[in-house]
Amino acid sequence: MSLPQGYLDEFAEPLGYLDFAATGPVSRRVRAALDELMGMVAAPSGGTGEIVFSRFEAATATAAAFMEVPVDRLAPIPVTSEGLFHAAFGLLGLGGNVVVPAGEFPANLYPWLRAAAAGGPAVRMIEVPDGRVTPERIREAVDADTRAVAVSLVDFQTGFRVDLDGMRHAAGDALLVVDAIQGLGAVHRGIGPADVMVAGGQKWMRAGWGSGVMALSERALDRLAPTLSGWRAVEDALETHRRAPHPALASAGRFQVGTPPIPGAFQFAAAVDVIESAGVPAIAAVIADRVAALEEVVRSAGAEVMAPWASPAERAGILCFRLPGADPAATHTHLAEAGVLSSQRGDWVRLAPHATTRPEAAGLLAAALGSG
Ligand SMILES: Cc1ncc(COP(=O)(O)O)c(C=O)c1O
Repeated sequence: MSLPQGYLDEFAEPLGYLDFAATGPVSRRVRAALDELMGMVAAPSGGTGEIVFSRFEAATATAAAFMEVPVDRLAPIPVTSEGLFHAAFGLLGLGGNVVVPAGEFPANLYPWLRAAAAGGPAVRMIEVPDGRVTPERIREAVDADTRAVAVSLVDFQTGFRVDLDGMRHAAGDALLVVDAIQGLGAVHRGIGPADVMVAGGQKWMRAGWGSGVMALSERALDRLAPTLSGWRAVEDALETHRRAPHPALASAGRFQVGTPPIPGAFQFAAAVDVIESAGVPAIAAVIADRVAALEEVVRSAGAEVMAPWASPAERAGILCFRLPGADPAATHTHLAEAGVLSSQRGDWVRLAPHATTRPEAAGLLAAALGSG
């Protein structure tokens, strides 16, 4: 599978950069979008505000198309967590419970815990010792009082990718809330069967920090109260001479704490344009090849691989390994010295290539691990 040259030319990360699960180096187009916006802010004219906001709306429409929802069901958000806080605090006062795997990245735990402490649904954390977040496991924990099931599309450590359709069934009538940051733009696009899908753009989307999206199903928009809803999230927000509170917006715009993340929306839309130039299926196919090559290298070096997946559909771009008897911190540092950039997560070293990772990166890794 080869990708269009125009897509590849957008990026310039070093050969050994294998840390996309932490941060995705951005494209030239994302940088240009931010530069252009900052240029406008640096030298405003009478019409700058209007131009910026109309461009913000266009960027929101681009993000909505990528998430495959009408534009009134998409809220730009600055961080993944903000979308999850909106979902969790949107359920205050309903009683019941939410079901969340205990091993989730904390961004998908604190909002539920904080909301529970504020009177929201009780948090039912389920242990998944083998890392297989399957519909069966979720179904066992769901009951008639479950208000939401919250899972990651791709686990930040194991790389296990959930079966979204299966999760939809397992969640029953509860809202299915998906933290998609570890897969969106790499192996996935669109809200699919989820009710709430949130993702920051700083990893696989390669949109940079401060960018993200929250996409909602119609019933999520109906069911979630706009609790963390500030001055911008209401009708006629700028008519400040009319006393607050104004009615909350009917659209996903009701989930805004303050002024929307304008730079982030510009960045996200630029990142979508770049992704669309290659297409998610092509990007996903290259990532699968690259991750398979890295797995082969670490296995030949005698490493143990964290491999909860049973089929290609259950994997994405993340590979965790450890060398028997070696301190993972030392492995991580040694790799960095050899030009291979990874993350250390607990006892494991995490590798995460993207579609612009060149095949030679596997050779660099092999040389560093002495298995080349
Ligand atoms: C699964 C997951 N969710 C969320 C985040 C980040 O959350 P936020 O964008 O709110 O900082 C990360 C990593 O940083 C992650 O791995």
